[in-house]
Amino acid sequence: MNITAAEFVTSITTKKLFPGEAPEIAVAGRSNVGKSSFINMLTNRKKLARSSSEPGRTRMLNYFSINNGAFFLVDLPGYGFARVGEKERDSWKGLIEYYLQKSANLRFVFLIVDIRHEPSESDLQLAEYFAYYDIPYVVVATKADKLSKVNQKKSLMVVASSFHRAPEEILLASSLSGQGRESILQTISDRLQ
Ligand code: GTP
Ligand code: MG
Repeated sequence: MNITAAEFVTSITTKKLFPGEAPEIAVAGRSNVGKSSFINMLTNRKKLARSSSEPGRTRMLNYFSINNGAFFLVDLPGYGFARVGEKERDSWKGLIEYYLQKSANLRFVFLIVDIRHEPSESDLQLAEYFAYYDIPYVVVATKADKLSKVNQKKSLMVVASSFHRAPEEILLASSLSGQGRESILQTISDRLQ
């Protein structure tokens, strides 16, 4: 599978569902971890999803149509961003949970973590949430370019054991170099069959 076309469709800011019929793949993770960059890397588009060094950039659900509606990538707002008020944080959380529970077309989630850090409490809570609601998820350790090959391997073990998964099940990625793109696309085509 390759991604040959990608376009922004809509942003959703309130608890309502997007009326599409194609399968959806959500991209979740901490604020600033690289979710939007991940979407740009997969779609080979520099500015499709707005990425930013300022955490908390994505504040809504952003839908991207891939290969002319074959499926959608859904960029979720990041969690764990300390500088927003409690009220705003609750409203994002509500939005994410509403989507995860109600979306009939959600097939699986890419849970993005930073390869340099041990997964946070909120990453593990989200994984538990997925397990509880039977939502399949694939862990992606991104920003691999920041570590040497040897350290990538070491960190992969830490990430895998935190999520109780085998190291082979964790996808390594770098949105900067494109590392991991092929395996991610393979995962998408395997899981959308
Ligand atoms: P929010 O929307 O705020 O939740 O952030 P996000 O998860 O969408 O992160 P975003 O893609 O905006 O990236 C955050 C910062 O990390 C930006 O400065 C990116 O350039 C940088 N970044 C993202 N992915 C990578 C990567 O693979 N390698 C490197 N070196 N930097 C990355
Ligand atoms: Mg973002």
